[in-house]
Amino acid sequence: MELSEVMRTTASVRAFTDEPVRPEDLHRVLDDARFAGSGGNKQGWHVTVVRDPELRRKLAALSAANWARYLAESAAGYRSFNPIDQAPPDLPVPDGLPTHPMLDAIDTVPELLVVTVDLQVLAVTDRDLDRFSIIGGGSIYPFVQNLLLAARNIGLAGVLTTFLTASEPEAGPLIGLPEHHAIVAMIGLGHPVHQPTKLKRNPVEAFTTIDRVDGPPLAPPT
Ligand SMILES: Cc1cc2nc3c(=O)[nH]c(=O)nc-3n(C[C@H](O)[C@H](O)[C@H](O)COP(=O)(O)O)c2cc1C
Repeated sequence: MELSEVMRTTASVRAFTDEPVRPEDLHRVLDDARFAGSGGNKQGWHVTVVRDPELRRKLAALSAANWARYLAESAAGYRSFNPIDQAPPDLPVPDGLPTHPMLDAIDTVPELLVVTVDLQVLAVTDRDLDRFSIIGGGSIYPFVQNLLLAARNIGLAGVLTTFLTASEPEAGPLIGLPEHHAIVAMIGLGHPVHQPTKLKRNPVEAFTTIDRVDGPPLAPPT
């Protein structure tokens, strides 16, 4: 596929056909993803391919609890898991919330990847600021996005989920997470039941300005 088309159509896909991912395709996706940049080119990523059904179910159960919390906080009017406007920790989770399609079908997701990162190799230039730190993620999520783009390029699809990280103390030992490593994402990968090709995204003018963040919007080309 052409790069621009891949970038514009890499949607989050949470339901997969029962067609397996060929080993050579999984390898190719990872082989493309590894060209992502990272601070100091330290490449602190690790990918665990989870195939043990019992382990999959445990990871899905941990994720599902945080998905329920996400929905409950959203239903209560919060931007869930937001670092600034935090919902009360004891917010009740009502019954009957929708379940997550990928977690529901965890036994049949063709490939399940847990991406982790070695925090000891990160250079986090906002580490000492008096606000929530964002820079560390920049050394690992380009790898994750590359992985999803590489999958789309060969007709596969997937979804980046981050709910497992909220249960890292419980999930880490299940996958042998070393000390000072963090869970970055749990990604389901497979052939999409449906491949969306029209993604909802804001136009360039909505997020690009001249000279200042509150400056005039970058004009579209005439
Ligand atoms: C950092 C990050 C975390 C995400 N976490 C989850 C998640 O835990 N579960 C999930 O189903 N989707 C997750 N998503 C996918 C988003 O919901 C998705 O990118 C967004 O809704 C746009 O959907 P689209 O790409 O299909 O248009 C995540 C995406 C990003 C970038």
